[in-house]
Amino acid sequence: MYKIIDGKEISSATKQKAKEEVLALNEKGISVCLAVIIVGEDPASKIYVANKKKACEALGIKSIEYALDADTTEEELLSLIETLNSEKSVNGILCQLPLPSHLDEKIIINAISPEKDVDAFHTKNVGKIMIGDYDFVPCTPAGIMEMLEYEGISVEGKNCVVIGRSNIVGKPMGMLLLHKNGTVTICHSKTKNLVEICKTADILVAAVGKANFVTEDMVKEGAVVIDVGMNRDNGKLCGDVDFENVSKKASAITPVPGGVGPMTIAMLMKNTVTAAKKQNEV
Ligand code: GUN
Repeated sequence: MYKIIDGKEISSATKQKAKEEVLALNEKGISVCLAVIIVGEDPASKIYVANKKKACEALGIKSIEYALDADTTEEELLSLIETLNSEKSVNGILCQLPLPSHLDEKIIINAISPEKDVDAFHTKNVGKIMIGDYDFVPCTPAGIMEMLEYEGISVEGKNCVVIGRSNIVGKPMGMLLLHKNGTVTICHSKTKNLVEICKTADILVAAVGKANFVTEDMVKEGAVVIDVGMNRDNGKLCGDVDFENVSKKASAITPVPGGVGPMTIAMLMKNTVTAAKKQNEV
């Protein structure tokens, strides 16, 4: 029998803690504020940003949205970021990705002050994660680590296989698992013997972006399966894992929706509170 790792339940606990920290800061006369920038009309991005704003409201964090036209120039966007960097009342800055193709994500992300980079995407923060000395952790991998800890799933000595090598999920996921003494393999589209490698996983993280990519034959009996995917299959929201069949083999598994997704937002709230505390030397 498998256990469903309930992201809604675990994220509530994380958000409750953040809410209490916001209140404690408010009592010291400190307010917490997140600036969210969205460029263009990507429908998925709009939903993500709306959910982030909603979470801020529920926790007493002020959120300011900057919804910019799809044809915003690099100069205009950099100018906004510069203003927000120097605005003391803004603690966190998030620029929703992907950006329209005429904007260079690397330049934009690295323009955000590392102290306000609540996504932990700035190269300075990425470097800090590499050496295991960090304040901000990228929200999705951090949320997954929180889920494992909440469920009492130890990483130490386990074979951890991550499918996907993105800068947002796959690579930092690998580092966080490594910091917890997991034996980590990161797989990608050029990996040979993917099925065999996945079958060695005690902890399998799927961050591929393809519906039902992870099938039963790729999963070891008793594995913990974490599904980062957010796909549509005939209009229905689903992850990267064939949940119905894989769950029969797994000891624990995250659902989609209601798994990793809510954790990502909870960790963003946590990072925003961390930013406010550090900036105010609390
Ligand atoms: N696009 C998809 N996931 C994320 C995220 O965690 N942060 C930002 N800024 N953009 C994203």
